[in-house]
Amino acid sequence: FVIEKPENEPILTYREGSSEKKEVKERLQELKKEVLEIPVIVNGEEIQTGNMGKRTSPEDHTLLLAEYHKAGSEEIEKAIEASMEAKKEWAHMPWEERAAIFLKAADLVAGPYRATINAATMLGQGKNIHQAEIDAACELIDFLRFNAYFMAEIMKDQPYSPDNTWNRMEYRPLDGFIFAVTPFNFTAIAGNLPTAPAMAGNTVIWKPASSAVYSAYFFMKILEEAGLPKGVINFLPGSGSEIGGKILPHRDLAGVHFTGSTKTFRYMWETVGKNISGYRNYPRIVGETGGKDFVVVHPSADTRPIATALVRGAFEYQGQKCSAASRAYIPKSLWPEIKEEFIGLTRELKVGSTQDFRNFVNPVIDKPAFEKITSYIDYAKESEEGKVLYGGTYDDSKGYFVDPTIIETTNPRFKTMVEEIFGPVITIFVYEDDQYDEILRECDEATDYGLTGSIFAKDREAVIKAQRVLQQAAGNFYINDKPTGSIVNQQPFGGARASGTNDKAGSKLNMQRWLSARAIKETY
Ligand code: ALA
Repeated sequence: FVIEKPENEPILTYREGSSEKKEVKERLQELKKEVLEIPVIVNGEEIQTGNMGKRTSPEDHTLLLAEYHKAGSEEIEKAIEASMEAKKEWAHMPWEERAAIFLKAADLVAGPYRATINAATMLGQGKNIHQAEIDAACELIDFLRFNAYFMAEIMKDQPYSPDNTWNRMEYRPLDGFIFAVTPFNFTAIAGNLPTAPAMAGNTVIWKPASSAVYSAYFFMKILEEAGLPKGVINFLPGSGSEIGGKILPHRDLAGVHFTGSTKTFRYMWETVGKNISGYRNYPRIVGETGGKDFVVVHPSADTRPIATALVRGAFEYQGQKCSAASRAYIPKSLWPEIKEEFIGLTRELKVGSTQDFRNFVNPVIDKPAFEKITSYIDYAKESEEGKVLYGGTYDDSKGYFVDPTIIETTNPRFKTMVEEIFGPVITIFVYEDDQYDEILRECDEATDYGLTGSIFAKDREAVIKAQRVLQQAAGNFYINDKPTGSIVNQQPFGGARASGTNDKAGSKLNMQRWLSARAIKETY
């Protein structure tokens, strides 16, 4: 078998009058008409537990999208059993046959289900069509296709064999099951976290974010249609603490694939750490967590792209990308020009429902997010060290809408400058032009996170200095570009420090984490 290196899935533009726009509009109308009942899926069996959760659209409190059955201890136990049973076949299947299922799933997303998964992501997670398209369609497809290619690359990596010997590496799956816990903010990440380990021969228990259970369920059905054998991925909506509490200490836990909050990830490590003598293996823990992603501008920078980078970096998907620009350090000499343009562009952004394709800013995910984000905005409004330059307004009467907000502070350690907000809020600190070295150090030390960041400079020395001082401050580092929008196989994604284990989603490095090689020596 040869798996050719794939190309990134082309992004559709949804222009006025295009067939893709018409199709998504139709799907949105259809989806809105019925309340979906989402079961627990264990061993291919749909289970109605009767313990229900509800998912309402974040843009309209009256639009109930789904009622989902929450997994309880019985389903959790069954899911563990099913994973261990399914593993007996799955782990021994030729890897190409496993890959074929995920490649088919990619084609199903790219073709017949593209409009559905985009529409579900728009309604359920509050993404506009363009943000849904780059996520639920393109990035999800890319993860599935490239992971198959990375598997092929790993398989090729074989040791030296002298005469009369055949040395080889068998890339086995891990010994046990994988627990995949997925976030609300990317349908693609929710799809990648269970499928990457599964492609490597592992079986998985998948706990989707309750706020994204709607699109997650559509993807689970696509996997089934693609031919995923029962029990390989078991779908368990429900309470994170209940499910995690039972699964994490289980003797057969072989790995965790997580994207979500730093707090939850630390709880997972602690639970695994406390129980370390109780496992058959040392569970592999792979996680991508929070960020406080930066933009540093040097006085030599070309100012033209900066305002657009700030708008897109900070406000696309309401600042709910883990990579979103949320603090910027700008030199005094450039600030008046950048400020005017940044505020001017932000003023042009339309805020509202995803159903109107002209809206750039849509709702934030739910009530706790709305309350957290607005509490930071209120804090800035009331503080003498903060000034709201634009926005600062919000409205949850119909959905959870927060206007894009620009704060300027005189304190580089101001609360909104150093704490993760996860909303459409960016804080600016204006520095004296001759303090560039100091500001790089400040940027490095101000938070514990290390996910993404950008430097804008024409001066090469300034770029080199930023790369050196900020070596550990960002796992994805951008020079003269916004810190968001990584693409599979172009900018493998992930950060270190408090932002995660930096096992680069959508890369060979990540796939290797789901494999435990056996070195075989045969003589003759
Ligand atoms: N991969 C996503 C981005 O870079 C999180 O924006």
